[in-house]
Amino acid sequence: MKREYKELAQAAHKAKLNAYSPYSKFRVGAAILTENGEIFTGCNIENSSYGLTICAERVAVFNAISSGASKFIAIAVVSDDYGFTPPCGACRQVLSDLAGDIDFVMIDSKERSKIIKLSALLPFAFSGNNLKRSLKIVK
Ligand code: THU
Repeated sequence: MKREYKELAQAAHKAKLNAYSPYSKFRVGAAILTENGEIFTGCNIENSSYGLTICAERVAVFNAISSGASKFIAIAVVSDDYGFTPPCGACRQVLSDLAGDIDFVMIDSKERSKIIKLSALLPFAFSGNNLKRSLKIVK
């Protein structure tokens, strides 16, 4: 793994410690790297109304955007799974839309990594371009 991705993985590990996951007991940490080298983190935050739970990846990208970041290179994810943790469908859509075709860096419990491009995780994605091309039907 490149040096900057190792640093990103470390930030994800640290963020995982803040996970609020009393229901699943499954902690996830994420760290997203911007084009100018900044790192923003997130953890999963569950809710007693289960469906309102938010994943670490979305917390990280929302944290970055709400802090003024806009261009991204990679996101690293660690969890309590001993294997790699791929993103859920909702996170694939949100990351593809807001962060573009970044590297999705998964790190397992033995610190091995697997890197997959967002476009491979979510091919033929819906985006703002689809809205721009919409037929303007006036009723
Ligand atoms: N979760 C994440 O935070 N990211 C993922 O990529 C997969 C799932 C969280 C949501 C929930 O709090 C817990 O893991 C179990 O699904």
